[in-house]
Amino acid sequence: FNIAATATIRSLSMLRVIGIVGAGAMGKGIAQLIAQSGFQVLLFDSIPEVADMAKQALFVQWDQLEQKQKITPHVAATARSHLHVVEVLEAMHVCDLVIEAIVEKLDVKQQLFHQLDQIVKDECILATNTSSLSVTAIAAGSRLPSRVAGLHFFNPVPLMKVVEVINGLLTAAHVPPLLQALINDTGHAAVFAKDTPGFIVNHAGRGYVTEALRILQENVADFTEIDQIMRGAAGFRLGPFELMDLTGLDVSHPVMESIYHQYYEEPRYRPNYIAAQRVQAGVLGRKTGQGFYSYPPVSEAPLL
Ligand code: NAI
Repeated sequence: FNIAATATIRSLSMLRVIGIVGAGAMGKGIAQLIAQSGFQVLLFDSIPEVADMAKQALFVQWDQLEQKQKITPHVAATARSHLHVVEVLEAMHVCDLVIEAIVEKLDVKQQLFHQLDQIVKDECILATNTSSLSVTAIAAGSRLPSRVAGLHFFNPVPLMKVVEVINGLLTAAHVPPLLQALINDTGHAAVFAKDTPGFIVNHAGRGYVTEALRILQENVADFTEIDQIMRGAAGFRLGPFELMDLTGLDVSHPVMESIYHQYYEEPRYRPNYIAAQRVQAGVLGRKTGQGFYSYPPVSEAPLL
């Protein structure tokens, strides 16, 4: 691989246009944060309506944030004028950085990175928002794995102020500090981690949700009581079941499976049939209106 090819974008001022691929829960949030910070953002989704809806939702969000004086009119206007939905991936050719936030499937992500290789300039950095896959394995989809790193935001992106910056095995040395500078510029903070299964949060956090599911399975307590005690006594902002509802079990359960397998079936990380069954039934959490708890329609959801 060619490290020299990725050596040109070294400072924040050289990151002008940032592409985001995937306009779902995470891509939309990342687009909000980055556009609010004044970067030009190109947003693409393989389902064009999803990207259009994300843009519409962000415009409403910016209006509301402006009315509530949570952002200035200048920031709102800048964000609105800097967010561009693009209909073809080829539009990413102008990007200095592309952040991928598509479905959590290794082969699909590798295929996207392979496609991006044909589109973007060699110095463009590619970041993946994967929660649980190997950054090194995703980078193997690119002919320039040295330009690939992990940039792991948390949900909801504007409120979760810490981001993991993941160093893949072949990531070039200049890439993580540049991503850190970007994160700092948005007002968030970066934490560096090596590319290991689950990085930091999803490694330590597996215990939080898998043990809670085991407590439920063993009929030790109701899920509301488990949440209550973990919030009230253990000091977590969300109980484990509230957290699974927020993340969505369609995301959370595959993460549990992926980390379990990456640690060679280490029993500590074993996923739970309670989660598997709920995925099969489509009882996913906030996004479906019903998870462990029931939720009002999205229009009544709180402002982020
Ligand atoms: P999502 O399902 O809400 O959105 C994914 C979007 O990607 C969909 O709109 C889909 O149409 C689009 N997409 C799928 N394949 C595509 C392709 N080849 N090209 C372009 N667009 C494509 O998923 P979500 O929750 O936003 O997750 C995205 C990524 O972020 C995943 O890797 C996930 O593991 C990670 N993540 C999710 C978190 C969460 O709490 N939801 C937290 C941190 C990371």
